[in-house]
Amino acid sequence: MAKIKVNNMSQKEKIYNILKEAEDILSGEKISIMLGISRVSVWKHVKGMVHSGIPVVTSPQGYRLTPDPDSLNPWEFGEWQDRMHYFQEISSTMDEATELARQDCPDFTVVVAERQTQGRGRMKRVWFSGDGGLYFTVVVRPDIPVMLASLVNLAAAVEMAALLRSSYGIYASLKWPNDILIDRAKICGILSQMETEGDRISHLRIGVGLNVNNSPELDEPGAVSLKTLSGHPVSRREILVAFLNRFEERLTGFDPETLIADWRSNNTTIGRHVSISTVKKTVQGTAVDIDSHGGLILKMADGSHETAIHGDCFHT
Ligand code: BTN
Repeated sequence: MAKIKVNNMSQKEKIYNILKEAEDILSGEKISIMLGISRVSVWKHVKGMVHSGIPVVTSPQGYRLTPDPDSLNPWEFGEWQDRMHYFQEISSTMDEATELARQDCPDFTVVVAERQTQGRGRMKRVWFSGDGGLYFTVVVRPDIPVMLASLVNLAAAVEMAALLRSSYGIYASLKWPNDILIDRAKICGILSQMETEGDRISHLRIGVGLNVNNSPELDEPGAVSLKTLSGHPVSRREILVAFLNRFEERLTGFDPETLIADWRSNNTTIGRHVSISTVKKTVQGTAVDIDSHGGLILKMADGSHETAIHGDCFHT
């Protein structure tokens, strides 16, 4: 499993930055002089970079970096760089995030992968995670009561949908609890897991799968990608950075009332007849609102009300 190391300016990162600035092919000798290391070391570092998926083209004249606006290489993430953990392939970004969180990683640590071999969704479903999609998990440590944790999931969905609308001009709506749909087609799913210590949240892992340049319709009829909608490839890095900035801002000075209002005004669930399934039971009714904890309030056939706290929601 090739991972790009995140640490203080490694030689590889220095070589990457030199190649990024260079206008033409740069010889190994020039780089070795700039860094005060041998040409063989330069060659070994470049070999390692290529192994990690960095598009460095080598030729007898030297090295050249192919510009890639879609690259998820942590060195392209500016102020987020130190919190990015990038993998070309991983079982699930949730697994790595769990380990990092249990080792006390900082708030807003991000695990991102080009593909997942065991990507998963809610209710233990498979999340197909082929090349071109955006798959990441953010570890957050919000200082809010455990009973408000579901609102953090809603916040992630609200921010991703707002980003898709404002930057890509597509009308993304929210299906309770945190799916993002374009018309009826799913473009984004969010899986969240929580660990607590007594009555406080130790951390939440918010896993996001967004169909960007992949072809989800091959595995999931009824799913759609940003590339299909916009007619051209879209930079996953641009989306991830914009999402992280928005999500961080939303959680800073977290305001549940504004969040719930934002969710309400962009949702497609309220007013519909729905079926909510959990591992234990399925309930059906008309969705009438969400409550202050993010639960979905249903009006049942007999006129009574029930609140679903979690579960899979189907618009029927
Ligand atoms: C769902 O709609 O059921 C939730 C899907 C969540 C998928 C993402 S992809 C990144 C992270 N890693 C996983 O294995 N799952 C989440």
